[in-house]
Amino acid sequence: MQQDQQEPVVYLNGEYLPASRAGISVFDQGFLLGDGVFDVVSAWKGSIFKLRQHVNRFFDSLQAAHLHTSLNREQWGEAIIETVRRNGLDDASIRFIITRGVPEQVVADPRVHQPTEVIWAAPYIFLGDEQQRSQGIRLMVSQLRGFASDTLDPRYKCLSRMHFQLAKVEASAAGYDDLVWLNKDGFVAEGPASNLFMIRDGILYTPAVDILHGITRQTFLELAERAGVPVELRQLTVYDLCTADEVFTTSTAGGALPVREISGRTLRGPAPGPITRELDRLYWASREAGEHGTPIHS
Ligand code: PDD
Repeated sequence: MQQDQQEPVVYLNGEYLPASRAGISVFDQGFLLGDGVFDVVSAWKGSIFKLRQHVNRFFDSLQAAHLHTSLNREQWGEAIIETVRRNGLDDASIRFIITRGVPEQVVADPRVHQPTEVIWAAPYIFLGDEQQRSQGIRLMVSQLRGFASDTLDPRYKCLSRMHFQLAKVEASAAGYDDLVWLNKDGFVAEGPASNLFMIRDGILYTPAVDILHGITRQTFLELAERAGVPVELRQLTVYDLCTADEVFTTSTAGGALPVREISGRTLRGPAPGPITRELDRLYWASREAGEHGTPIHS
């Protein structure tokens, strides 16, 4: 738990600062252009899940975005652990961010930059509330398409997320809990903060392209294998989702979130369905056992 009355501690460019002093310039390219990348990892019961995989994905985003960092992978890992420790959290959502920083001139070569590096840790965040987790969410198929690999490859976990916000406004204005968007060819991609799975006749399906490679998605694929549930990565349509036995989303923010409705069609099975329930149980059991975990207090 966050210690009473203690101001959150934020890592900023090599220093651990009280949040009220952790300010960045209004000329920062992250603020001006959404020019930066980030990742979100979580801790549960004192153990950070798949830290190495999250840091590796972050470094892939940096490499592809032509962004530098002053720290190596190990140092990022250490700074993340230290930030959680200094905030006195055992269950945490930890966001780590690099922006292209403040350019020396107004018109500057993006390759030449001094990055702004930030880590902040909040108490663990669940995407869905208790009722949504136990009864399922209503998902809308967005009018907006997801980014494609020939525009802004969804594998970048980047700060440019205005179209995510617009899609969320669209979904909540229509009374939905969350949304899924399609890729430019009309196949199901993902949501603004989660990947999508469906089950039909005992087989687990998830899209293979035009998505962020979610660490939780990968974990659920591994757990499905462990549980003997056959998996197929393939293109899915809205029709496939609406006629599925079970649909769920996955993210670092809560594991699996069952879906009970897709754009006005109530799914025929219960939400969560039996396979969703079993995989989510395995996920939390694995986390509680500290599998793939890095202890905060070693
Ligand atoms: N969101 N797809 C998108 C677009 C995401 O932003 C996320 C993560 C995921 C799921 O990835 P993972 O399993 O690695 O969390 C899929 C995080 C939680 C966020 O933006 O806060």
